[in-house]
Amino acid sequence: MADGSFAFTPAVEDATAALWQKVQGQVTPLEWRLHAPLIAEINRLKREKNAVILAHNYMTPEIFHGVGDFVGDSLGLAREAARCDASIIVQAGVHFMAETSKVLSPGKKVLIPDLRAGCSLAASITADDVRLIKARYPGLPVVTYVNTTAAVKAETDICCTSANAVQVVEAVAREWGVDRVILLPDEFLARNVARQTEIGIIAWKGRCEVHERFDASDIAELRAAWPDAEILAHPECPTEVLEASDFAGSTAAMSDYVARRKPRRVVLITECSMADNVACDAPETEFVRPCNLCPHMKRISLENIHAALLEERFEVTVDPAIAVGARAAVQRMIDLPAPAVAARYDLVKARHHVDVELI
Ligand code: 13P
Ligand code: SF4
Repeated sequence: MADGSFAFTPAVEDATAALWQKVQGQVTPLEWRLHAPLIAEINRLKREKNAVILAHNYMTPEIFHGVGDFVGDSLGLAREAARCDASIIVQAGVHFMAETSKVLSPGKKVLIPDLRAGCSLAASITADDVRLIKARYPGLPVVTYVNTTAAVKAETDICCTSANAVQVVEAVAREWGVDRVILLPDEFLARNVARQTEIGIIAWKGRCEVHERFDASDIAELRAAWPDAEILAHPECPTEVLEASDFAGSTAAMSDYVARRKPRRVVLITECSMADNVACDAPETEFVRPCNLCPHMKRISLENIHAALLEERFEVTVDPAIAVGARAAVQRMIDLPAPAVAARYDLVKARHHVDVELI
């Protein structure tokens, strides 16, 4: 800033020293001198305004480790939005996550630093589509991935994330006394869930533009180049990728895997920042990084988080009539008992016959 208020002063260096210790393997000293003044100012503004930052695992390390108060996967952030007592939530993530926070905490001001931070899955389906699907399959419950708009959630019975999708599908099938459920909108997640359960799955053709780009040949090349690497994949990837990997789970499950097993070398088949963030806490592990960037997640920066806090922009609102239905669907998911360990997709036990009907 022209007045020097965002300079890397000794006071800023002091205030951010512990954070620098954490990220120094992943952020260069030059970058840190640019980031640290903003990090110190954002952390000051948070205290002044009783605000919290909910940061997804795909945020860059200076956001994730520097200013995130609660970090994690979609399920963890939704749970935190429901229970935190701040006046303002800044969602360092994408728009559907901010909507979920607003739906769960209607009395709080929910801000997203860039309104354009969307999601190809959320854009793949509308509330009208869901109404047509329900008319076509009367009597079957509809499970929606949280990566959907509030209007879509409002049309559905219960939400899930990649961390609990199998649990949710089985719980809702039991409750409704049915042997098939509709699981929207991620085709690959639906196919990967179908391999873990006897429940038949009716799916939609939505795709995550980040994870759909991986294929089995990527995994074969990685195995050839790094035969000792453990390969972990996100369940939004095609099934052939999960089959060729050693483990599959949500972003939190991947993070847990590295923390518990401390592999010598690992590959995370997911968005690029994930490895950077996990690597900050896993100095003994070498990360091979064949990642893909999410252009939506990457719209969030320290600069626009700072502007969001300072000017209290951009406020995310949800029509109260929609919020009621969306809240019920998300709350039903949150009210299920938390899994003892983050869900994994056990490909060894995967069924050979998989019953997926694509709408
Ligand atoms: P999770 O963090 O729930 O695994 O989701 C990944 C994702 O793509 C969020 O947009
Ligand atoms: Fe959506 Fe995929 Fe980006 Fe997550 S990574 S926000 S699912 S496009």
